[in-house]
Amino acid sequence: MPTDQTDAVVAGHICLDMIPTFEGSIASLDALLTPGRLNVVGPLTVATGGAVPNTGLALHRLGVSTRLMGKVADDMVGRAILDVLRAHDPALAEGMILAEGRQSSYTVVINPPRLDRIFLHCPGANDTFGADDVDYDKLSGARVFHFGYPPLMRRMYADSGRELTDLLRQVKQLGPTTSLDMARPDPASEAGRADWRRILERALPYVDVFLPSFDETLFMLDRPRFDDLERTGDSDAQADAAILRELSDQLLSMGAAVVALKLGTQGLYLRTTDDPDRLASIGPCVPEDTALWVNRELLAPCFEVEVAGTTGSGDCTIAGFLAGLLRGLSPEEVMVAAVAVGACNVEKADATSGVPSWDAVQERIRSGWGSRPVAISLPGWQWHEEAGLWRGPGDPRIC
Ligand SMILES: Nc1ncnc2c1ncn2[C@@H]1O[C@H](COP(=O)(O)OP(=O)(O)OP(=O)(O)O)[C@@H](O)[C@H]1O
Ligand SMILES: [Mg+2]
Repeated sequence: MPTDQTDAVVAGHICLDMIPTFEGSIASLDALLTPGRLNVVGPLTVATGGAVPNTGLALHRLGVSTRLMGKVADDMVGRAILDVLRAHDPALAEGMILAEGRQSSYTVVINPPRLDRIFLHCPGANDTFGADDVDYDKLSGARVFHFGYPPLMRRMYADSGRELTDLLRQVKQLGPTTSLDMARPDPASEAGRADWRRILERALPYVDVFLPSFDETLFMLDRPRFDDLERTGDSDAQADAAILRELSDQLLSMGAAVVALKLGTQGLYLRTTDDPDRLASIGPCVPEDTALWVNRELLAPCFEVEVAGTTGSGDCTIAGFLAGLLRGLSPEEVMVAAVAVGACNVEKADATSGVPSWDAVQERIRSGWGSRPVAISLPGWQWHEEAGLWRGPGDPRIC
């Protein structure tokens, strides 16, 4: 791997999505899934899925030189995953990990018109991904290391996150700024029953930038409130400033330097450490003017777009955030870049094809692109027209 050119390494969960198209309407899923029935379907769409290809390809499209580190087996699914990646750029796949004798991960997506989707997911090689799978030599020269979806990778959450913690500790010692995203586990599954507070307490001291979504964070840190919000509807719209502050307080005190919570249609919330030394320790992505990043609290609303599909929106928002960080931008600029890339993603049904070049994203922001109103309550917050986002009552730059 040509280490001198690699700015970002994206590691973690990868799978192959197999999506049959349905022609004509289906009365009900029961009719479709009747035992013994042959259902004629249309052409198969094959796409990569997971944090590695989604955030990785989005970074690549934004012009960041990126390498991918997902784990696949030497089987048809694994070869198809590598083919898809190499079709984007052969160099992207140079860091991929080949598992011995284990099935690659795939998902069959049953998505008939006007009916809810069903996923048949095989975790495959993602479940055996451990700290010793990473070829740490391949990280030298990388400025940022992003890891995605420990809740979908058994060894990462087993034993209170020992492998995840080992992996992040070793990466951090090598120098790159570390970044972590989560996923929402099925509450009834082994991952759903894991002690996520304990896992985060162990892992976050080695995470510089933590970028989970609001609902998965609530699931991990405040299960009763998560269950309450789930019962009463769209949890993102019901986030309020106090909950966001409370959750980010906990995550910062566990050790992260920068916390950004994805809020779905409500945008992206940022909270940073009040400790300048912790911020200075984030590695190559440390901003030139660290003071600009200390003790910040911002909320960037979504940009107004016509939504074709939200697949990969979280991953692309992260790519925008990391690309901005790599460019040494201010927190305001990084936040706006993140939601702008997320918005570009939802304009296309698939995971990454909506993401344009970095310059095109910036041009669109400068052209007066409107934002969606924020439904969550923000008492004492101020809207900053020039920056295009909200600043929290405790933010040092509030007027
Ligand atoms: N309707 C929308 N319009 C514009 N931007 C959107 C819209 N929905 C989501 N986004 C962007 O995508 C991001 C995704 O947030 P969300 O909380 O859904 O993350 P996530 O749960 O990690 O997503 P994913 O389902 O991709 O894992 C938001 O922060 C926002 O920037
Ligand atoms: Mg996500």
